[in-house]
Amino acid sequence: MELYLDHNATTPLDERVLDTMLPYLGKLYGNPSSRHSQGRLARSAIDQAREQVAALVNAHPGQVIFTSGGTEANNLALKGGAAGMDATTLAISAVEHPSVVAPARRLVAAGWSLLELGVDSEGRVDPLELGLRVTQSDLGLVSVMWANNETGTVQDISALKVQLEESGAILHSDAVQAAGKLPIDFKASGVDMMSLSSHKIYGPKGAGALIAERAITLEPQLEGGGQERGLRAGTESVATIVGFGRAAELALSELEQNRQQLLELRSYLESRLDALPGVRRFAANTERLPNTLFMALEGVDGEMLLMQMDRHNIAISSGSACSSGKTEPSHVLLAMGVDPQLARSAIRVSLGRGNRRRDIDRFCEVLVGLTGEMSRTHAVIANG
Ligand SMILES: Cc1ncc(COP(=O)(O)O)c(C=O)c1O
Repeated sequence: MELYLDHNATTPLDERVLDTMLPYLGKLYGNPSSRHSQGRLARSAIDQAREQVAALVNAHPGQVIFTSGGTEANNLALKGGAAGMDATTLAISAVEHPSVVAPARRLVAAGWSLLELGVDSEGRVDPLELGLRVTQSDLGLVSVMWANNETGTVQDISALKVQLEESGAILHSDAVQAAGKLPIDFKASGVDMMSLSSHKIYGPKGAGALIAERAITLEPQLEGGGQERGLRAGTESVATIVGFGRAAELALSELEQNRQQLLELRSYLESRLDALPGVRRFAANTERLPNTLFMALEGVDGEMLLMQMDRHNIAISSGSACSSGKTEPSHVLLAMGVDPQLARSAIRVSLGRGNRRRDIDRFCEVLVGLTGEMSRTHAVIANG
């Protein structure tokens, strides 16, 4: 039977979410922009989802802009936000997701200056460094993720915002991984924009949102329709948005229970791993997402381990990214000062609602067997 331990990549669709979506894939097919009753039904379903998504992060429903996912929300925040600004410098942390890094690079190509905010060995941005950078540059836009997808490291977003108060620079946070796993308060955090994604919270793929203060001028990245207050043109994917709303509602009502269960499960996993030789855990001394464990087994290639685990029907992730056919060690680990050789051994286990202790036992058993096998093979190859 398959054992899924890769919930930061995506989560299975909750059956309760699927049930809520089904009518909108069937009889309720109206276009939300139509004025007849079918259209109005679809519109009110989207309005309800807007309220549910807003509630998950304590935002106002009027601040929710539905998108196709986290990637689009990040693109809209950076490219759309920059378009309305006079400032010409933006800052992002060194551990951002590619969907923040690539739009930032696009802005550089358009003449913006880019500051990279470094992280410490636990993956944290230092708010004081941001404060220093603000005084030295014409900073307009800052993007720092709420929590990292690889390490799970949680940033002190409110402290970062405090550093920006005088300059008036806009703070965006990619909260795709944090939402549903941690309590998030958009209002209290002071963040100006925040990205969310449905498929990371047991909702369907293809929906996400940018939460944005209404006062922020955003340039739409898709034009040709008045949907989402003209900020995101195109007929809404009603069923997907409805599913996102329901997933957000469930994530909020079950947040504490899930968080406790995941924390308990992860500490069980950690206690078992700590008994093994050669295990190095990353970002182990800071606040992390309750479900995430990023580690390396010294001398064992992470990518190979992932493939061997897959042979045993266990789904995990490695820290490596594939770029132009070559696997590169995680840029997150390199930014944390981890040795590139060790970074190549990284694997990520991200737990979910459906996991139990017996899953951890199975994972550890297979891990022990495989690492014995793989380091023996490695030694044979190394010794010729
Ligand atoms: C931190 C982070 N941001 C953004 C994304 C992209 O979200 P989506 O898959 O909804 O486009 C991901 C997905 O892996 C992520 O982990």
